[in-house]
Amino acid sequence: MLESTAAIRPARATEAEALHDLAALTFPLACPPSTTEAAKAAFIEQHLSRAAFEQYLADPQRLVLVAVRGDELVGYAMLVHGEPADPDVAAAVQHRPTAELSKLYVHPDLHGGGVASALVEHVLQAAVDEGAVSVWLGVNIHNARANRFYEKAGFAVVGTKGFRVGEVVEDDYVRERQQVFTGVTRGRPR
Ligand SMILES: CC(C)(COP(=O)(O)OP(=O)(O)OC[C@H]1O[C@@H](n2cnc3c(N)ncnc32)[C@H](O)[C@@H]1OP(=O)(O)O)[C@@H](O)C(=O)NCCC(=O)NCCS
Repeated sequence: MLESTAAIRPARATEAEALHDLAALTFPLACPPSTTEAAKAAFIEQHLSRAAFEQYLADPQRLVLVAVRGDELVGYAMLVHGEPADPDVAAAVQHRPTAELSKLYVHPDLHGGGVASALVEHVLQAAVDEGAVSVWLGVNIHNARANRFYEKAGFAVVGTKGFRVGEVVEDDYVRERQQVFTGVTRGRPR
């Protein structure tokens, strides 16, 4: 297996365009085969545009982390602090305070290389630093690779929710890592 040589750091305000480029490449990988090209394009335009990333980067409730190899962004994750707005999520998530792992995307050339684990480890540390005792996320129920990854990383299924892509509401699992440890691979309590 390829080992990750990517460095993880907070995204810079100047990186909105590069984040958009990586997001446009990787978002379709998370969609089930039934999602139309139009729906994917609409989602990218609305939520993953350069302007959207400029807003995320300026939002004090959000932390965007990037994985960088040389000058190239090869992965990103976004942590959102605060109580879940979706009532299905609020009912499913069992521990408070919680934070959302809102996005986790790695360039396909580096899948299996440890970049995702490194990003999650930094996300968990950032959540702990803000006082969260759990981290939750939504993932499409048909996204087998991501579900396997999250299971390995300690995120258990605690419920389901809808996720709108274009005109279609997809089915997501809500997953929660109920105790936030640093060290995804080491599982070391803090
Ligand atoms: C999800 C993602 C970040 C995980 O990173 P990764 O580097 O691929 O993760 P890993 O390789 O460590 O783990 C994936 C696991 O799924 C397994 N897997 C791969 N394809 C699979 C499939 N079709 N069905 C079930 N498991 C699968 C891998 O073998 C691996 O398990 P293993 O370590 O036990 O062998 C990455 O795949 C990604 O960016 N995917 C596209 C975007 C996405 O779906 N993001 C999540 C949105 S919620």
